[in-house]
Amino acid sequence: MEKTVKLHDLDFGILITRNILEDRILDLGKEISSAYKTDDIPVIMGVLQGAVMFCAELVKNIDVPLEMDFVRIKSYSGLGTTGKVLMTKQWEKDVKGRKILIVEDIIDTGNSILYLKDQLLKAGAKEIKIATLLFKPKAFKFNYKIDWIGFEIGNEFVVGYGLDYDGLGRNLPEVYQLSSDKKQS
Ligand code: IMP
Ligand code: MG
Repeated sequence: MEKTVKLHDLDFGILITRNILEDRILDLGKEISSAYKTDDIPVIMGVLQGAVMFCAELVKNIDVPLEMDFVRIKSYSGLGTTGKVLMTKQWEKDVKGRKILIVEDIIDTGNSILYLKDQLLKAGAKEIKIATLLFKPKAFKFNYKIDWIGFEIGNEFVVGYGLDYDGLGRNLPEVYQLSSDKKQS
């Protein structure tokens, strides 16, 4: 039987299993390791709170020296983006002259990461690359490069593996999508 979960008022069905997630993240880790092999030590910049699980799994699979930092960005409320981006927690390292790898849970419209890239460049970062677990190409409004993408998905609202619906679902070890007949307008 299909695995489903209920969060608040909505039902979600499984989209990406734990094994498939972990296999893909293993591969991403290898690719990222070879990209930074002979390079300066990168700062892995995890985007709280959604990317915490992806970031933890990813760095276990990166075998070059690295440093870690976190920012917190908010733009979503419930099932939709607000369009306004806020950084509610700044990074803590001096990013001037550093190579940064932004690690994000999902890129939807692309607003949040555009804003973060901009802030990091203003602070003097010398290179910014992006790794995202999930990407919604049909919602993406920009054309900046996303260096590593775990999975491309449709425009459906997803939860699990760090992603939430109004605070719930982050601890699910799989990715779930909103059951289509349950979507509220
Ligand atoms: P963007 O600024 O539109 O790219 O939105 C990015 C942020 O919105 C992500 O970091 C998530 O926190 C949130 N988000 C976008 N799509 C979803 C989704 O399907 N489920 C949960 N959160 C999402
Ligand atoms: Mg996020």
